[in-house]
Amino acid sequence: MIHSPTAGSDGVTIVSHALATHYLTTLRDRQTAMPAFRAAMRGLSLILGAEATRDLPLVARPVDTPLETMEAGRLEEDTLFLVSVLRAGEGLLEGLRALVPEARIGHVGLYRDPSTLKPVHYYEHLPPRMDRGLVLVVDPMLATGSSAAAAVDRVKQHGGRHIRLLSVIAAPEGVAAMRAQHPDVRIFVGALDRGLDDHGYIRPGLGDAGDRYFGTV
Ligand code: URA
Repeated sequence: MIHSPTAGSDGVTIVSHALATHYLTTLRDRQTAMPAFRAAMRGLSLILGAEATRDLPLVARPVDTPLETMEAGRLEEDTLFLVSVLRAGEGLLEGLRALVPEARIGHVGLYRDPSTLKPVHYYEHLPPRMDRGLVLVVDPMLATGSSAAAAVDRVKQHGGRHIRLLSVIAAPEGVAAMRAQHPDVRIFVGALDRGLDDHGYIRPGLGDAGDRYFGTV
């Protein structure tokens, strides 16, 4: 099997990498206990995050190596913002925070009403100056797409202009909803699964990402 990033012309990048596949399999396996689930989520977030930030703009800065001065590239302040969709987004955020300690971080609290499957907004705390950089909205399971689309709405209302969505697994329904509501937002995912079941779960999926990450199953 060849593992190379697949940049889809439909605004979706399925990040293909041997380790991403390995971590995804660990996440999907119902036998995986919470500590291993967390470790796999962290590993996968580093790979997805690296891919989604591959083209971040850098500024040239002189740096003194022990031997001489050279021009090198650095991230400027306000180049990257991370927005976690509570609560499951926290699973991805942990690794991303380590990957880019310079990133400012925001949170949007949304839960899915179990009967309507519609997102209910209950919390928001977003950083200033999001208009200046790339905003990575992180939501592990892109199921119906309504939570991700609502989170992107909030980010746009708060000034975000250049936005990407990072998810572990997407359903075609979620991708379609995001493309319809936010065609400007590129989606980075580890896998595109078959579809949703009657309860709004992604099949084959990995179950409830938040419950498995936080141990609330
Ligand atoms: N949220 C999850 O955690 N899992 C799904 O399959 C769908 C939404």
